[in-house]
Amino acid sequence: MQDRIKLGANRTGIASSPMHSEAMLSGLDLQEGSPHPAIGAADLRASYRDEAEPVGSMPPPNTLRGVVGAVGESLKGRRMHILLDKLGERAAYERSGVRLYDAFLQRLSAAVDAALPGDMSIETVQAIRNDEVAHFTLLVEAIEKLGGDATVQTPCADMTAVAGMGLIQAMNEARATLAQSLQVLMTAELVDVASWELLISLATQLDQDELARRFAVALDHENMHLERVRGWLELALENDVALLAPDPDDA
Ligand SMILES: [Fe+2]
Repeated sequence: MQDRIKLGANRTGIASSPMHSEAMLSGLDLQEGSPHPAIGAADLRASYRDEAEPVGSMPPPNTLRGVVGAVGESLKGRRMHILLDKLGERAAYERSGVRLYDAFLQRLSAAVDAALPGDMSIETVQAIRNDEVAHFTLLVEAIEKLGGDATVQTPCADMTAVAGMGLIQAMNEARATLAQSLQVLMTAELVDVASWELLISLATQLDQDELARRFAVALDHENMHLERVRGWLELALENDVALLAPDPDDA
């Protein structure tokens, strides 16, 4: 694992070449004077949205048992589908969370000599990873209790899988520093906290108080994960700053 950022020939910024940036900005003026194309990108996207089918669907009520099966296609049944969809989403995200932590643990075990921030260790990271597994299992139980099929990829699960692809890619970036990897974990944990909060409020609204109570325990774990990961990231950055040897010219 890279331990910190390095200075190098990064020429992505506009200030690295004033001459070329001037030429590029003059191109903007030309563009402003030119007629707009017949179909702009926004119009094209709007036409796709008008014609598009929704992202996936929920299984029909006749395949469901449990609470949702009992209320069928009634208003209550349709409301319960919203909860089932979000439970499917959370299950997908928690499963991705396990993969994120597995990838992070691989990096840690390969970097035996690296100085780790605070109380971070294979064991403390593994404990968070195990919580994510337990949350996934809790969600599978909740989906089955309501009469759903936990193997279904629900529409919201599909959306969250697409959104999470960037996190998995970033975590598997071989050149990432410890702090950069922790930033990825912090992003995932922030979503975890907010999503369990939403799920608790949705379950309560649908009179699923027992589920809401169990979700509140998961939320406690997630708040702990966030606090830990954010603390480690803060310390990792402080270490990066402190490890840079003072330049005598700065004195
Ligand atoms: Fe978490």
